[in-house]
Amino acid sequence: MKIAVLYGGTSGEREVSLSTGKGIIKALENKGHDVTPIDFSPEKMEEVLNLDVDLVFIGLHGRFGEDGKIQGLLDMLGIPYVGSGVLASALAMDKAKSKQIFSLNGLHTAKSEVFDVTDQHQFSMIEDKIKRTFTLPFVIKPNQEGSTLGLTIVKKEQDIRQAIETAAHSDSMILVEDYVKGREVTVPVMGYKGKEQALPVIEIIPKNDYYDFDSKYKPGGSEHIVPAKLSDKLTAQLQQDSILAHQLLGCDVYSRVDFIINENEEPIILEVNTLPGMTPTSLFPDSAQAIGLSYDDLIQKFVELS
Ligand code: DAL
Ligand code: MG
Repeated sequence: MKIAVLYGGTSGEREVSLSTGKGIIKALENKGHDVTPIDFSPEKMEEVLNLDVDLVFIGLHGRFGEDGKIQGLLDMLGIPYVGSGVLASALAMDKAKSKQIFSLNGLHTAKSEVFDVTDQHQFSMIEDKIKRTFTLPFVIKPNQEGSTLGLTIVKKEQDIRQAIETAAHSDSMILVEDYVKGREVTVPVMGYKGKEQALPVIEIIPKNDYYDFDSKYKPGGSEHIVPAKLSDKLTAQLQQDSILAHQLLGCDVYSRVDFIINENEEPIILEVNTLPGMTPTSLFPDSAQAIGLSYDDLIQKFVELS
């Protein structure tokens, strides 16, 4: 098959995507596909507009990759691609919107509120509102971002302002969310629409305080336990919740659903990643490995599902 791989991109997660892309390109080549790699940026639009391929594999993360925009362009060009379409991608990228959908459908989410931070003059007012609404510790993060970029776990009142500024650097909307103490787990989902399966649950034990950027991407930055050592009941609940979340947003082919298991053993859903990392330290390939699916076979599976 003739397959173009879009990777790199211009979002904050560019470095992650370069690594994801390299993995995907190698796997597709190993499977005998004719691969056109495109390190994607606005200057490469012409190349995309003139693509003569059977399929596009989107290895981008974050803004202009995972948020539905490139998917819309490919739809207009009539070029099929791997993964979720416009609406599911856009919803999943918007943490506040997706959380509303999850909680309306019985999934547990952490209490949160979204703030518009386009105007710096509003920051003091936002800070006061946060102080009135949330109890320390809590999380401040950009509403649309990945890989924990721009995220702060706020433990002291005097750190709120800096956390707002850090998150506002990445997005015009920020999300303030209760900090949920507990175990961090994630569940890969894949399959035909309506017939998805959940892969083994992974527990993440970060070397740092929490699963931050370095824990995610530095070799040895975190330990992945697959399958996570959880009761059968909780495992089944997590897998069921993951498939439900994937379907509620209308995702397609694959996604990875992140949770914290709180101290009452309840799964609290954080988000759905429609283009989860596929780097050498990434979670989805680790979980697939646990059911005997190698990295190359996994990528080939996504192609077949598409
Ligand atoms: N946003 C990163 C790539 C992930 O969720 O894996
Ligand atoms: Mg993410």
